[in-house]
Amino acid sequence: MGEKRDSFGSKFGVLVALTGSAVGLGNMWRFPYLVGTNGGAAFIILYLICLLVISMPLMITEFVIGRRSQANVFGAFKTLSQGKKHGKVWGKIGFISVITALVILSFYSVVGGWTIDYVCQAIGFKFTQGVDYEQVFQYSSTSAVRPLVFTLIFLAITAIVVIMGIQKGIEKYTKVMMPMLFVMVIFLAVYSLTLKGAGEGIRFLFLPKWSEVTIQTVLEALGQSFFSLSIGCGTIITYASYVKKHENILTLSAETAFMDTLFALLAGMAIMPAVFAFGATPSEGPGLVFVIIPQIFSQLPMGGVLAILFFVVLFFAAVTSSISLLEVMVAYMIEERHLSRKASVAITMSLTLVLGVLCSLSLGVLGNVHLFGNSIFGFMDGLSANILMPLGGMLFVVFAGWKLSDKEYFDELTNGGSMHISPILLKVLRFLIRYTSPVVIILIMLVSLLK
Ligand code: TRP
Repeated sequence: MGEKRDSFGSKFGVLVALTGSAVGLGNMWRFPYLVGTNGGAAFIILYLICLLVISMPLMITEFVIGRRSQANVFGAFKTLSQGKKHGKVWGKIGFISVITALVILSFYSVVGGWTIDYVCQAIGFKFTQGVDYEQVFQYSSTSAVRPLVFTLIFLAITAIVVIMGIQKGIEKYTKVMMPMLFVMVIFLAVYSLTLKGAGEGIRFLFLPKWSEVTIQTVLEALGQSFFSLSIGCGTIITYASYVKKHENILTLSAETAFMDTLFALLAGMAIMPAVFAFGATPSEGPGLVFVIIPQIFSQLPMGGVLAILFFVVLFFAAVTSSISLLEVMVAYMIEERHLSRKASVAITMSLTLVLGVLCSLSLGVLGNVHLFGNSIFGFMDGLSANILMPLGGMLFVVFAGWKLSDKEYFDELTNGGSMHISPILLKVLRFLIRYTSPVVIILIMLVSLLK
């Protein structure tokens, strides 16, 4: 190839891009609900423990793999396994991540399409009192043509950013979107907290209810920390490969995890007080953000403007995540298939679009098609969350823990020994990824498959 590999221009750029990837619909519609129904503050404490013990070590490991190899996710394992026992087999595992990214992006872009649809409807001040919001959502998600058009628009926006490359595309645009997202979420949270009856929502979120905590709660906390940090699909490996050699990847991981958690808590504070102030019941997933929220806004003064803000927030959160997913595939096509960035984007986007159309239609016209008892949409979602992401995560830690030597692993974390990191911290981290993470991940996979 010869040409110089693109990289992030600044540390801030890396941080916003990573936070952009991590902060997504998982923070906005899953976390608040899970907290409320799984013991409030008790869940938050469990979540933080899972983050610290399992998810962050995994994230740090993806950083090590990506930055050390300076390659796309497939190239990373190929490069790092060279000359090692069973190197040929290990060298191929990155391909799983390319597929995982494709599977996630195919249904994620459908939901991303809904967010654009809702932004448009909010701008047209369609969300007024007396509208049947259940029906609006049905129409936006299950009709034959409308969602396809918005899925295409969502993917096209994602593609345009990725075509421009790392510094001039991904970094440049996430640097604008993420701070805006941050300010808007804070504004919504503060507003929501001033509503009469908001206290009930805050109690729902933050009152610790230890009696509600079961083994299932712990698994939910672990699964959520995994999904929310975007671990196990190669996005962190891919982004880390564009991080410069002098950056401290340990602090970068900690900062990303901190920002991701902060966003999730703010989203909870924006959503739940409003839900309770209007005597609605919090539900999970699409119902919460696409049905209950517009309904609530329609009853508030300035609700029209709030609705625009809220759905722009959702759109930004979704698009900064989809960018990172597309980049996983595109980096692979450029470096392993030797295509131009444009051609790579065109091919991967078309492929995603075909799957995305199937996912979207499976909620309406193709509702009768079932894969293992699920709609196509549900199948893609389950396949990635229950199988591909945990599998990827496990392969990453096993590879880094057992195939990379202590020296190689520590060398990357300390930037070739030029940075001091407490030896105890390094030892604990090494222990966690060699023993704790693989065992725990296998357990989650078994439980979720048997459920
Ligand atoms: N973390 C994202 C969220 O909270 C979802 C997600 C999972 C993701 N894996 C990903 C996003 C990979 C981008 C890339 O919604």
